[in-house]
Amino acid sequence: MAFGWKLHVILSFFFILAAINKGVAGYKHVVLMHGILAGPDEFDYFATLVKQAYPGTPVTQIDAFNHLESLTTMWDQVDKISKLVSPILTNSSSGTVLVCFSQGGLICRGLLATIPHNVETFISLSSPLAGQFGDTDYLKFFFPYYVKENIYKLFYTEVGQVFSVGGYWKDPHEQKLFQKFSTYLATLNNQSDTFNPKSHEFKENFLRLKNIVMVGGPDDGVITPWQSSQFGMYNASEKVLPMEKQEWYLNDAFGLQTLAKRGGLHLHTIPGIHHVRWHKELQIFKCCVLPWLT
Ligand SMILES: *[C@@H]1O[C@H](CO)[C@@H](O)[C@H](O)[C@H]1NC(C)=O
Ligand SMILES: *[C@@H]1O[C@H](CO)[C@@H](O)[C@H](O)[C@H]1NC(C)=O
Ligand SMILES: *[C@@H]1O[C@H](CO)[C@@H](O)[C@H](O)[C@H]1NC(C)=O
Repeated sequence: MAFGWKLHVILSFFFILAAINKGVAGYKHVVLMHGILAGPDEFDYFATLVKQAYPGTPVTQIDAFNHLESLTTMWDQVDKISKLVSPILTNSSSGTVLVCFSQGGLICRGLLATIPHNVETFISLSSPLAGQFGDTDYLKFFFPYYVKENIYKLFYTEVGQVFSVGGYWKDPHEQKLFQKFSTYLATLNNQSDTFNPKSHEFKENFLRLKNIVMVGGPDDGVITPWQSSQFGMYNASEKVLPMEKQEWYLNDAFGLQTLAKRGGLHLHTIPGIHHVRWHKELQIFKCCVLPWLT
């Protein structure tokens, strides 16, 4: 009897300790944003892995602008998704880990610039963070009359900006037109001819981040140049220059240089992974997502 009573007290004590510990440490909310021509189920595998690693972790797979709707104008997507995720991203008693794939990474750049958020770590899986300049099957499918050399004639117009890809198309030979017409990437990089009265607010919001984990690799096959997944981009001779050589890094236009100086940039270059596999490989989860969940 006496022993049973003591055991009960001891067990209760441990349960209470565990509960307190969990309450204090909590789990960061994991928010997953899919890529172009896909939906929230694209992240089912990683969502399962998160819950296996840390049962009880809140996980949200953003269910908006799925499939064909993912071609919608970038700012329209950001505005609507912002309304959906703001309650999570502005929860003052919690932090967020934002995991975004491909075009989703650029959607996430928009969220990070416009919301006074609680995101601690932004994990970008092969996102064209510095823009895209390359022929792909889906581009050929939707715009059969164009190739990368001339599609700026469509994308760098008001009509062309209606398409998500137009917003982050980065033709290295048409920098002036990019600055004139790109309503999305040029604005995020503070390179647009149209003055953005909120550029400092964008930077402040962006700098609420502690870490960016940039994952990409040479066998991606879609993101071009693949170094755009780590903020690299072509110059006018189509030579890829790293982020440190980009104008918006040098003048710290949106906070990337400050974040780098704080030690907040984490680059992973992984060969052998084709574009559609980044969120399907256990290896990628283990190296680049799991360490950031707690
Ligand atoms: C905010 O975070 C707390 C602590 O993790 C959680 O209990 C609560 O449900 C969260 N609220 C929202 C709106 O996510
Ligand atoms: C963005 O560019 C404008 C115009 O050049 C400048 O006035 C503003 O200070 C820049 N914003 C940031 C955050 O550097
Ligand atoms: C592009 O960068 C390369 C390597 O730094 C340089 O040699 C070349 O002159 C640059 N092209 C232009 C047009 O600036």
